[in-house]
Amino acid sequence: MKIAGTGSVLPSKVVTNEMLSEFLDTSDEWIRTRTGVSSRHVISHEKLEDMAVEAAVKALEDAGIQASQLDFIICSNVVNEYVTPQLSCIIQGGIGASCPCIDINCACAGFIYALEMAESFYKAGRVQNVLVVCAEEPTRMTDWSDRRTCVLFGDGAGAAVLTPGDNIKSIRLSAASATDKLWQYRLLQPTPYIEKEEVEVPLQMKGQDVFKFAVKAAATDISRVLDDAGLRAGDVSHFLLHQANIRIIQAIRAYLEQPDSRFPVNIHDHGNSSSSSCPILLDECRRGGRFKKGDVVVMSAFGAGFVSGAVVFEW
Ligand code: ACO
Repeated sequence: MKIAGTGSVLPSKVVTNEMLSEFLDTSDEWIRTRTGVSSRHVISHEKLEDMAVEAAVKALEDAGIQASQLDFIICSNVVNEYVTPQLSCIIQGGIGASCPCIDINCACAGFIYALEMAESFYKAGRVQNVLVVCAEEPTRMTDWSDRRTCVLFGDGAGAAVLTPGDNIKSIRLSAASATDKLWQYRLLQPTPYIEKEEVEVPLQMKGQDVFKFAVKAAATDISRVLDDAGLRAGDVSHFLLHQANIRIIQAIRAYLEQPDSRFPVNIHDHGNSSSSSCPILLDECRRGGRFKKGDVVVMSAFGAGFVSGAVVFEW
């Protein structure tokens, strides 16, 4: 398969570090130097499903594909306004498609997990055109009085349309259960029979453990996909890394011994938008004219689970 079109949408509300320091014991200096984030887009009046549909429509237009030509929709999402129906079904209706669709929840690695699933459909000869949409509102998961987490995140939706091709050179996924490191309970309705204690808590994260996991997982995943593709780090034109923390990106860059110029970033004004981060960065690079035909692109993401994945593809 190949990536034939991309699209992305951000909420209109921009929240700066200065705005956060009005009600949190934090500062622009702390957030910028520890995370690289200066501001983030936060959902206020928007509905996530509308943003997802808009990103999908942009990607379809970019690819020159009609919604009716889609064979499958994969939506990556951690949380939205509904438990059910699945967000991919809402997107299907919103864009006027009629194909099957499925949601996946692989946290920040969702885009790469979706690409791997789509690649399997192509290899099985079952699809021509696939839409992947990542739509996330992590700002709705955090406790806005917890300075250790709420400063990190931003919302957004990113989409990609896939068509037949041989541009994907290698994909690798991994998972290692560590639910004590980064998690959020969902409070279910009580029944007359429930005996266990259930506590509603916002997102909890052991930041330093997540940081170490992220650097190690990305370094391993990227090395493996490059080996699989018979490439070296120096052959890669662009490394699109999950935008979680500029220091994580710098640590991976140092491990790969590649120049800053090959690591496009948007974390400074986006924050961490979970699985949307990769397709939003991809779309911004593409629309900004950053990619030339034949460029080798590596994408790597990591998140709660822990899950991680990397892909190498030719543009
Ligand atoms: N402003 C000011 N001080 C703060 C803030 C803040 N926003 N946040 C934490 N601090 C304080 C802490 O309270 C602590 O103070 P103490 O020493 O008095 O207790 C001090 O700063 C150091 O805290 P650390 O947690 O050690 O800071 P660290 O340098 O590790 O940075 C961070 C924290 C930014 C969270 C970092 O660990 C990180 O980026 N981790 C990875 C996060 C990540 O990638 N998450 C992915 C989520 S993916 C998903 O699937 C949702």
